[in-house]
Amino acid sequence: MKLLGKTVIVTGAAAGMGEAIARKFAEEGAKVVATDIDKERLDQVVKSIAESGNEAIGLVSNIANQEDIDKMTNKAVQKFGSLDVLVNNAGIMDNFVPVGDLTDQQWERIIAINLTGPFKAARAAINIMEKQEKGGVIINNASIGGLFGARGGAAYVTSKHGLLGMTKNIAATYGIHGKIRANAIAPGGVATNIQSTITEPHPLGSQAIGSIGGNSAPLGQAEEIAEVALFLASDASSFVNGAIITADGGWTAS
Ligand SMILES: NC(=O)c1ccc[n+]([C@@H]2O[C@H](COP(=O)([O-])OP(=O)(O)OC[C@H]3O[C@@H](n4cnc5c(N)ncnc54)[C@H](O)[C@@H]3O)[C@@H](O)[C@H]2O)c1
Repeated sequence: MKLLGKTVIVTGAAAGMGEAIARKFAEEGAKVVATDIDKERLDQVVKSIAESGNEAIGLVSNIANQEDIDKMTNKAVQKFGSLDVLVNNAGIMDNFVPVGDLTDQQWERIIAINLTGPFKAARAAINIMEKQEKGGVIINNASIGGLFGARGGAAYVTSKHGLLGMTKNIAATYGIHGKIRANAIAPGGVATNIQSTITEPHPLGSQAIGSIGGNSAPLGQAEEIAEVALFLASDASSFVNGAIITADGGWTAS
């Protein structure tokens, strides 16, 4: 049991990688606060974790809403007495829209969910973790779109680059005495529902993404990313701080 007794918040836990992380962490002994905007799916995930004999509570929570973020972090402490790990996983894709055609509304929505929300959640978590003797761990699920330009539209790529910058800043600021570690995962293509949200791919953005080629790696499975998150959440990674772990089956290696 690699997370025995640890309290963990996972955002976007009703599907895809967030669901896999919530399940894996609960199996490893964590007390999981699973959050999402999709109540129906979230209830199913929490129910099935409980049926497996593990511990999770569900909380409908929009990462773009400050009040929801406060409720989420307060709930973890009220219910389980501490907050040991925050997994900022919730995120959405864009339609590969490049800067020239990006509306304010599209930009603001992606940045609110993929970057501002994780910042606010990290802020709330750090203010709790700093007061704890044992500190805490922050894991940001970014993307290879946080490392390279042509892996999404302008807003998505910017949001994920920002998330990686914030990860390193937290690590450099709060991790220096070993109290709070912050690391990020940069997945490549992973088989989840997120691709179905790409409803009208922009031709110029799609052309830019198409031109990079090289993605002969099969899609990853959400559980493979959950294993990376488990390593980062557990004491096995005690000396890992400010790292970005690429998990893309070798896509960006070539
Ligand atoms: N799937 C991929 O290929 C891929 C690759 C790289 C990075 N990522 C990143 O991984 C993370 C998880 O993606 P996924 O592929 O598992 O997606 P997914 O669509 O399968 O699941 C995302 C979950 O987040 C929830 N969500 C959406 N908006 C939310 C909000 N405002 N507040 C709270 N929850 C919200 C959704 O309801 C959903 O349950 C995202 O941050 C995504 O950008 C995905």
